Amino acid sequence: MKKDLVSIKSLAVDELELILNTAFSFKDVLKRDIKKVPTLRGKTVVNLFFEPSTRTRTSFELAEKRLSADVYNFSVPTSSVVKGESLYDTIKTIQAYGADYIVIRHFCSGVPFLLSGMVSASVINAGDGTNEHPTQALLDAFTIKEKKGEIKGLNIAIVGDIRHSRVARSNTYSLIKLGANIRYIAPATLMPCCVPEGVKVFYDINEGLRGVDVIMALRVQKERMDKAFFPSEREYFKLYGITAERVNLADSNVIIMHPGPMNRGIEISSEVADSTKAVILEQVTNGIAVRMAVLYLIGDSNE
Ligand code: NCD
Repeated sequence: MKKDLVSIKSLAVDELELILNTAFSFKDVLKRDIKKVPTLRGKTVVNLFFEPSTRTRTSFELAEKRLSADVYNFSVPTSSVVKGESLYDTIKTIQAYGADYIVIRHFCSGVPFLLSGMVSASVINAGDGTNEHPTQALLDAFTIKEKKGEIKGLNIAIVGDIRHSRVARSNTYSLIKLGANIRYIAPATLMPCCVPEGVKVFYDINEGLRGVDVIMALRVQKERMDKAFFPSEREYFKLYGITAERVNLADSNVIIMHPGPMNRGIEISSEVADSTKAVILEQVTNGIAVRMAVLYLIGDSNE
């Protein structure tokens, strides 16, 4: 594999499949009594998060520790970044510490790509602006494959704030590459301006959910909205919320996914989020195995 993982768009289908298959082996490791392997012993990983994160940062940290890496969490709010240090200087400093991997989340789209050309360390994109969130898409594909056996031919509905969602973008790239049929369901204001070829667009959620095998709910990302994209949260839930009644329109074996953090009562009802059809916590568990696979496969760790 390449030195970095900056996007799903740039991955070949066989690379995607290799990551997923490797993650299945790491999931077995996680079921053992001792969940640690020596793969990254002697390697240093720096986690550099310029945006809030609970599950992605924790998941990366656990994955790194289970591979026996030395882990350093660079805390942006207490670093020289707040004194005006440029991203370039922060990165060069981290490189001087001898980092072998840099896991970066940044509010600007394109930063991980820029960084990958600047440093010899392997760069992993943990979410860049509204662009991509590759490891989320990989853990979502892993979860679908684990639950459904095969991704090819599945009907998958991505519902909600698609316009601002890097999760939706990365998932669209990966699930199309893996042969799924994608539906976008959103109000016109939250639909992206460029819908990828092959994706079916629905403005009516009841029509869009009919017969689907997977429902992927997205958080309404208010922090990325510079104006009002819908009149009120109550109205949004009424028109686009995933409720038990709407889930009944889907295939009877449908699974419900959400990348978290969830806004219960806005994009999804508590009843659905806590139902047996929801695989939201399994997505969290699978995230560790998938990130272990990525760390193992990129760079030179597996040479
Ligand atoms: C997502 C993100 O940060 O892009 N969350 C995550 O990584 N678990 C989705 C979101 O914030 O809505």
